[in-house]
Amino acid sequence: MTATEARPEAAGREPILKVTDLTKYFPIKGRGLIRRTVGQVKAVDGVSLELHPGEILGLVGESGCGKSTTGRAIMHLQPATSGSVVFQGRELTGLSRGKMRPLRRDIQIVFQDPYASLNPRLPVFDIVAEPLIIHKLAKGEELRSRVRALLELVGLNPEHANRFPSEFSGGQRQRIGIARALALEPKVLVLDEPVSALDVSIQAGVINLLEDLRDRLGLAYLFIAHDLSVVRHISDRIAVMYLGWIIEIATTDDLFDKPSHPYTQALLSAIPIPDPRRERERKRIILTGDVPSPANPPSGCRFRTRCQKFANVLSESQQTKCIDEEPALEDRGTGHPAACHYAEAIRVL
Ligand SMILES: Nc1ncnc2c1ncn2[C@@H]1O[C@H](COP(=O)(O)OP(=O)(O)O)[C@@H](O)[C@H]1O
Ligand SMILES: [Mg+2]
Repeated sequence: MTATEARPEAAGREPILKVTDLTKYFPIKGRGLIRRTVGQVKAVDGVSLELHPGEILGLVGESGCGKSTTGRAIMHLQPATSGSVVFQGRELTGLSRGKMRPLRRDIQIVFQDPYASLNPRLPVFDIVAEPLIIHKLAKGEELRSRVRALLELVGLNPEHANRFPSEFSGGQRQRIGIARALALEPKVLVLDEPVSALDVSIQAGVINLLEDLRDRLGLAYLFIAHDLSVVRHISDRIAVMYLGWIIEIATTDDLFDKPSHPYTQALLSAIPIPDPRRERERKRIILTGDVPSPANPPSGCRFRTRCQKFANVLSESQQTKCIDEEPALEDRGTGHPAACHYAEAIRVL
């Protein structure tokens, strides 16, 4: 398998979702009466990825690197500044609201915070039924039986459909959010940190449910997380984001066995190894400093200001290249694409 292919059964098939050079800039307004635009927050700055039918693609990076904005721009919740989003061969960018509506059913989103994303004043039945009612897909007894089936599908007791979100635990609330997202029988789910707000003990149950649903319903997921260990077990491939762009993309095994970008290597080196002797002996790659502002990213390679390799290994002339040239996301002999001029696969875990 290569990074651009998905799981074997998906290989060779057309991607269900193809994102090319996606950007999303937010204007920074000045003070004063006129509020001129004085700058741009480059939240997403040239993201390309493909999602294949039935595939789970993890999208990982530190908080603020543009993961949610990527998800929202793909879903048209916040239109992209530029770039292309093709769903099942149809270009979505630039579509009118009316033309977009039927396609909206096919891509659904599940948010991180089940407390904030569910209307607290509605009973669970209404929350899950709402998309079916809005799209005029069911009413009466059919609506009731479809909501029951959806609740069962996500492991909730249909008898509890008249309860309110506050009567459920965090994990159960996230299941309600998933049931609602599945109501319109989508083909793609964007899962924006679906377990980040949950206790670790509950996370595994929700992740197992998502994996099970993928297998049973043939869904494809863009699974967003800030933590590599969360996406490790569920993802077929993983894309690592830093400051608005993807810096490495590979099958999950390749990313963990042969991380090639210094940023990915640093993220992996923060994951504890269960073997205490190996854990003691390993060298940690510490990420220094904060993520630079996306309003004013460093020239050339955006990661260079926090890069160990840049600081400790590269010669001055090599550093010059990092400062002057933006590294393309391409395979430099490590087996998968990484956006580093000096990409080199090393074992960290
Ligand atoms: N509506 C907005 N207006 C201005 N800046 C925004 C807006 N939404 C997000 N941003 C900025 O875009 C960057 C990426 O944010 P986000 O996509 O939420 O990151 P992540 O999901 O990876 O934590 C951040 O710097 C954030 O402050
Ligand atoms: Mg986010």
